[in-house]
Amino acid sequence: MFVSYRKILSDLDEASHLRSIKSFERKAGKYIYIDNKKLINLSSNNYLGFADNEEITEEFLNFAGKKYSFGSASARLLTGTLPVYNGLEKLIGGLFKKEAALIFNSGYHANVGINSTLAGAGDVIFSDKLNHASIIDGMLLAKGKFFRYKHNDMHNLEKLLIRERNNFNNAVIVSESVFSMDGDIADLKKLVELKKKYNCILVLDEAHAFGVFGKNGLGVCEDLGITSDVDLIVGTFGKAIGSMGAFAAGSRILIEYLVNKARPFIFSTSLPPINIAFSKWIIENKLPYTYDARMRMINLGKNLGSESHIIPVIVGENSETVQLSEILYQNGYFTLPIRPPTVPDGTSRLRLSLTADMQMQDLETLVKLLKDFNIKVPC
Ligand SMILES: Cc1ncc(COP(=O)(O)O)c(C=O)c1O
Repeated sequence: MFVSYRKILSDLDEASHLRSIKSFERKAGKYIYIDNKKLINLSSNNYLGFADNEEITEEFLNFAGKKYSFGSASARLLTGTLPVYNGLEKLIGGLFKKEAALIFNSGYHANVGINSTLAGAGDVIFSDKLNHASIIDGMLLAKGKFFRYKHNDMHNLEKLLIRERNNFNNAVIVSESVFSMDGDIADLKKLVELKKKYNCILVLDEAHAFGVFGKNGLGVCEDLGITSDVDLIVGTFGKAIGSMGAFAAGSRILIEYLVNKARPFIFSTSLPPINIAFSKWIIENKLPYTYDARMRMINLGKNLGSESHIIPVIVGENSETVQLSEILYQNGYFTLPIRPPTVPDGTSRLRLSLTADMQMQDLETLVKLLKDFNIKVPC
C-alpha cells in the first residue's frame, strides 16, 4: 500500500507537480523575507495588508482586551455561538441589505456546505468551469446533478439551461465574481438575467472581491448595483480582511436551510471569538477608509492587462513555470508557481496578486523579465 503512495509522489515529482510546505517570515505590507532576502510578495491574498500589520494587531488588542477567548470549544449549534458571532452576522446582513447572514469557518467550508446542500435529489447546479475547488467539492457531495459551463461563456450556460432546466426542481447557478486564478470578472449582469429568465438561485463567490471592489468594499455586486439580485453572496474574511472565516448572505429561508443542512457548518467547532471580533473590527473600523488604496490597486492590475488586482501570467508547462518563478525570485519577486490540479493542464502559471501598497515602480523589473521570457505584457 505504501509503495503505491510513494510511486504517486515520485510521479508527481517527475511532472513538477509535487507540493511541499514552506514557512515564511512576513512583515506588514508588500515584502516577504526568505533567508534574509527581502522580496516583493506577489503570492498572498493579503490585499490590504491587514493580516500581518503589527500596528493594527496592537490597536485591535487594545480594543479587544480580554473580552474574547482563543477558542469556542463547541460547534455553532451547540454552545459555540457567542454574541460576537451574532454581531458579525448582523453587520454583514446589514451591509449587503440581506435578511440574514451566516458565518462559516472558512470559504472552503462555506462553498462545500452551500453547494452540497442547495442541490438535493432532483435539483441541479450549473457551475462555471473555472470555479474554485471548494465549489467543485461541494457539488461532488450534492445529491443533485451538476453541469459545468465553459468559463464565463453565457451562451454555453444558456444552452445548458434550455436543455436541462425543466428536468429538475430547484436550479442553482454558481460563479466566482473575480476568478481566483485568472483575475477576470464574471458577466454578472448576464448571470442575473439568466437566473431570472430560467428561475434559478444565483450563488456568487466574492472571495477575492470582498474588501476590494465596490464603494464600501462589498465586492463586484456592490460595484454593479446588483446585490439585491443575487440570492446568496459568499465572501471570505481570510483574504482582504486579513482574518479567517467566511460568510453567506441571503434570504432568511436560505440561511435557515443552511443552518439545518450544511454539514461543514453543523459538524465543526466554530472559529475562535477573538478571530470573529477581529473580522468585525476590521470591517467596521478599517475597511471604510480603504477606498483610494483599493482603487489604486485595481488600476495597477488593469495597467498590467488584468480586470482586477489578480494577474495571471500563463506559462503553460510546469517546468517552465517553475523556472520563471526561480528567475523572478533571483530578481527580488516572490511568485509561487500554480500548477494542475489547481489550474487546468497546460495552463501552469504565476498568479500575481497585488497589494494596495504596491506601485508600478515595484513591478518594472518584473515586467521586463516577463518580456525577456517571451511573455506578453500586458499579460
Ligand atoms: C474563489 C474562492 N473561494 C473560496 C476559497 C476558500 O476560502 P478560504 O481560504 O477561506 O477557505 C478560495 C481560496 O482561495 C477562493 O479562491
